[in-house]
Amino acid sequence: MRVLVVGQGGREHSLCIKIAKSPLCEKLFCAPGNAGISEVADCISLSSENTAGLLDFCKQSAIDFVVIGPENPLVAGLADLLESNGISVFGPSKMAARLEGSKGFTKEFCVAHNIPTAAFKRFTDAAEARSYIRSQGTPIVIKADGLAAGKGVTVAQSYEDALAAVEAALIGNKFGEAGREIVIEECLTGKEFSYFAFLDGSSVLPLATAQDYKRVGDGDKGPNTGGMGACSPAMGLPENIEQEIMKTVILPTVEGMKKIGSPYKGILYAGMMLTENGPKLIEYNVRFGDPECQALLIRMNNDLLPVLIATREGKLADVELSWNQDSSICVVLAAEGYPGTPKKGSIIAGLTEAAASDPDVQILHAATKFHGNNIIADGGRVLNIVAHAPTIDQARANAYAVIDKIQWPEGFCRRDIGVS
Ligand code: AMP
Ligand code: GLY
Repeated sequence: MRVLVVGQGGREHSLCIKIAKSPLCEKLFCAPGNAGISEVADCISLSSENTAGLLDFCKQSAIDFVVIGPENPLVAGLADLLESNGISVFGPSKMAARLEGSKGFTKEFCVAHNIPTAAFKRFTDAAEARSYIRSQGTPIVIKADGLAAGKGVTVAQSYEDALAAVEAALIGNKFGEAGREIVIEECLTGKEFSYFAFLDGSSVLPLATAQDYKRVGDGDKGPNTGGMGACSPAMGLPENIEQEIMKTVILPTVEGMKKIGSPYKGILYAGMMLTENGPKLIEYNVRFGDPECQALLIRMNNDLLPVLIATREGKLADVELSWNQDSSICVVLAAEGYPGTPKKGSIIAGLTEAAASDPDVQILHAATKFHGNNIIADGGRVLNIVAHAPTIDQARANAYAVIDKIQWPEGFCRRDIGVS
């Protein structure tokens, strides 16, 4: 089977490593990929948003199966385009991807199917939004309806911040089309974590919980990022939590999406908050999380490719996942300046020695490229160090031991991933 993975981050590197190992995979491509991915796949210089280019490539290169990593192409309908041209895809249709592509859609869906989530209202008019905020008080959460590269959510502690967020989206056009409508919702408090499941349109195959570390600095300080690290399972959750989420959130979602004629096929990422009143859905994502994917896949013993194919073919009922009982951790190494403007082009040395020092630890590339024989930083989140061990403390020690062997003075990481 000839397989194409679409995307270029650490998530796609971990997917490519698993898929490349599958006996079913004759040849693996990645578009656009990165320096690390090029060790396991042929990297094609096509952006993940170049839908027409990706279709042409699939036709010319006789691709049998496409795995779509990021949300933008899914929400734009890449899965539909490829499928309608006879190419099999892992990833939801455009209609199913509304679960990430429109927060308003997802909130209405939750109400219609009795899925626990924060109370909310949708707005396109700034004056109405302002008066709703006054009636509700703070803290309050303001969200652009559409995709906003992870920057569309404001958790406002003050009226000023809340009103400024409304102004930016509805008047200042900060998020363009994606912010023409906003959702204003109740601010939930509690432990935040995520839960992942494969859905094949009617069956569910649960994976596991994970948590990510969104702030740039230790102790959850500083600005939000795409995620500075992850661990799996998430820490400090009650034992029955997975069954509860399955019953109250995931199963009603599978049924509901089927009922509205948008059956969901792919990986479903539920962003959850464990509140005083039980677990509530904060948001859905229609893809693997990055860096949660890296922490999840290192715990999974299965050949991944047949699982992805079964998801697409509606055959998940026949699949059983096998997990090692370890805890895992993924630490992100980012370039100076991230999450603002990261410094690109610095040389990263010592990767071969670091990798050889512990073969059980993965060094994944998230944004790197070759410059002659050197590997250089090519974005914000640059490398991911992924370790697993019977205890999270051991996994963390193993990951940081490898990090300390990497010579990259222009890079930094959080030192408290997997601590709490
Ligand atoms: P998102 O960009 O949609 O991933 O949301 C970013 C973050 O905002 C989430 O991970 C939560 O930490 C926070 N958040 C979103 N909605 C709420 C809510 N209703 N209450 C509290 N925090 C929230
Ligand atoms: N780690 C958060 C995300 O993938 O959206």
